[in-house]
Amino acid sequence: MSATEIVIRRPDDWHLHLRDASMMAAVVPFSSADFGRAIIMPNTLPPVTTLNQAIKYREDIKKAVPGEHSFEPLMTLYLTEMSTPEDIGSAAQNGIIKAVKLYPAGATTNSESGVKDWQKVLPVLEEMAKIGLPLLVHGEVTDADVDIFDREELFIDTVLSPLRQKIPELRIVMEHVTTDTGVNYVMSSDSNLAATITAHHLIINRNAYLAGGIKPHYYCLPVAKREKHRLALRKAATSGDAKFFFGSDSAPHLDGLKECDCGCAGIFTSINALGCITTVFEQEGKLENLEKFVSLNGPEFYGLPANSSKTRLYKTSRPIRFPEKIQTSGGTVTVFNPLFAIYWQVDNRVEE
Ligand code: NCD
Ligand code: ZN
Repeated sequence: MSATEIVIRRPDDWHLHLRDASMMAAVVPFSSADFGRAIIMPNTLPPVTTLNQAIKYREDIKKAVPGEHSFEPLMTLYLTEMSTPEDIGSAAQNGIIKAVKLYPAGATTNSESGVKDWQKVLPVLEEMAKIGLPLLVHGEVTDADVDIFDREELFIDTVLSPLRQKIPELRIVMEHVTTDTGVNYVMSSDSNLAATITAHHLIINRNAYLAGGIKPHYYCLPVAKREKHRLALRKAATSGDAKFFFGSDSAPHLDGLKECDCGCAGIFTSINALGCITTVFEQEGKLENLEKFVSLNGPEFYGLPANSSKTRLYKTSRPIRFPEKIQTSGGTVTVFNPLFAIYWQVDNRVEE
């Protein structure tokens, strides 16, 4: 399909880091401009582990949404070895909690409170299976002796597969899947397993941060892999398969914290993610499946209605200019540069 205009249900972002305080104030308007809802990651400092924290965090996010935007934060709880089935079960009864996020301890930014011993969280996971609350996993093992490029595959073999055999009713999202093995695993599993895919993993491979000098603004976790994996991700995302949906994993860090001896993982994309994704679907000749990936498959997995409002995307004759950096009161944050021009303009003022 080649088109210069496309109208779709308003998209959602099923994996988003909004941080807090001045960073949150700076980044929320970019998400709320283009997305109707977002699954909000709980890896703040301290992490969001209780219902009360989630309620407060949600209120803070809503205050940062500009008046002319409509945006619903979908809250998650951070699973720790101290979480109890009772706490998670009663938190889930409050409609604002849509999922629980599991970080293997040490896997990524602010994952220190995450899980070391899977046996300890089994009772919580059993409760979640019972009440139908999805588990969102950061799918990488953390053992220091496992090559960073193999961590997703090993997670599937040693953690995810055994867990799915043990609790087949548990609904699981493999967050930000990055390998062909991950894609194939999700594709061949039953409907209780789905995956989010980011914009940047559809666009960059490992050369982006390693070749021609070290490029910290293309460094994120899981790290982008070799080209064959990027191609597998593009095929899955653009296929229309209901198991794959968009989660930006937009993860802002101040430039000073990325450009240093031990730079933080995370790429800030919320400002141009929708333009990037639309361009990818156009490049693949699959614009007809864009709505499934960004607007329909996610709500279907979560048992929510698709947004009723519509978004129009239309092609401009000149490339859209995004800032290279945004300003926050703590410093600048670099915007993801897809290294191609984006011609797709987002228009949310569509007549019903
Ligand atoms: C995320 C962050 O900075 O919070 N970083 C990243 O590289 N994606 C955490 C995560 O999702 O792994
Ligand atoms: Zn993330």
